[in-house]
Amino acid sequence: MKPLLIALALILAAPLPAHAHPRDPRDLRELAQRHGIKVGSAVDVAALRAEADYRKVLNREFNHVTAENAMKWESVEPQRGVYTWADADAVVENARRNRQQVRGHTLVWHNQLPAWLTSGVADGSIDAAELRSILRDHITTQVGRYKGKIRAWDVVNEVVEEDGTLRQNIWLTHLGPGYIADAFRWAHRADPRAKLFINDYNLEWNQPKIETTLSIVKDLQSQGVPIHGVGFQGHLGIQYDYPGDWANVMRRFADLGLEIAVTELDVRMVLPVTPDKLATQADYYRRALTDCVSVKACKELTLWGYTDRHSWVPGWFEGEGSACVMDENLAPKPAYHALLTVPRQRR
Ligand code: G3I
Repeated sequence: MKPLLIALALILAAPLPAHAHPRDPRDLRELAQRHGIKVGSAVDVAALRAEADYRKVLNREFNHVTAENAMKWESVEPQRGVYTWADADAVVENARRNRQQVRGHTLVWHNQLPAWLTSGVADGSIDAAELRSILRDHITTQVGRYKGKIRAWDVVNEVVEEDGTLRQNIWLTHLGPGYIADAFRWAHRADPRAKLFINDYNLEWNQPKIETTLSIVKDLQSQGVPIHGVGFQGHLGIQYDYPGDWANVMRRFADLGLEIAVTELDVRMVLPVTPDKLATQADYYRRALTDCVSVKACKELTLWGYTDRHSWVPGWFEGEGSACVMDENLAPKPAYHALLTVPRQRR
């Protein structure tokens, strides 16, 4: 008996052959395969058209994309009834050619609305009844145009304030809170197969916002309104603590039957860039992906731009930047490599 045990012990102690160690993925598409999720990026459509290197890396690395601005209302209907789809179409067509799925961003928001709409509401020339029909037509037209081509829509974006109250946007002011259920119903009618999300920032840690968003979801579900997922934007900064309870917050929404998506991940820093700051940034990216893949319902992690060459951060946060996983020359930063090291998790 003893020789057999010795032999067994020797076999178990022997190093695994090289091919048995699953090597780290070589790029983000392989990373997505490792974890069985979508790994995406927001797309700057001007760069998509004009910059061959930007386009090449986008299509090599990502199996999912979100139009950063091209599908927002001011972009698709700058004049009432006059639709300009070329930019949105460019993102969708590039995705089709490059085996990428698409997140539609965003149908109902308080920002980047066309001037004809905001001024019409402000001067009273558009009353509540007309505003509701305008919103219905907008959702029906846009979702209908991309029926079967867009996997998921950010139906409502940033509808909860930091204190947990509903955001006083033009929709709430003139239509009442029912506009949220209406938006989801109209989107579902226009494309019954699209997954419909509520999307917000600071949902990773802001308790009043988390509680109100959970209540909104439960209320919609109690009305039989089709809502399928929640998007955590994930705009982080290394000057702030990492939201350490993020995975548990994801689980609270998952427990309602929702799909989870990290929809706009970036990790900014106060400039200048230093190796230490890049190392901290890498850790934040690694933790965000680890949190996502530790929750079975988390199916998507999208970067809000993959290169510092086209990041929204410098224009919005003075003195801050370097928020992406690649630099202005599309060279991978430590954060990119950190993502590739995240091991498969038991989900
Ligand atoms: O298209 C015009 C151009 O014609 C004009 O010359 C130029 C200068 O005024 O402005 C251009 O529009 C800019 C637009 O981005 C397209 O580049 C707007 O000024 C600028 O405000 C807008 O910023 C976008 C921001 O949303 C607006 O709130 C950012 O690119 C975009 O990354 C950012 O994305 C949002 C998500 O949609 C929702 N979550 C938060 C996230 C960050 O704010």
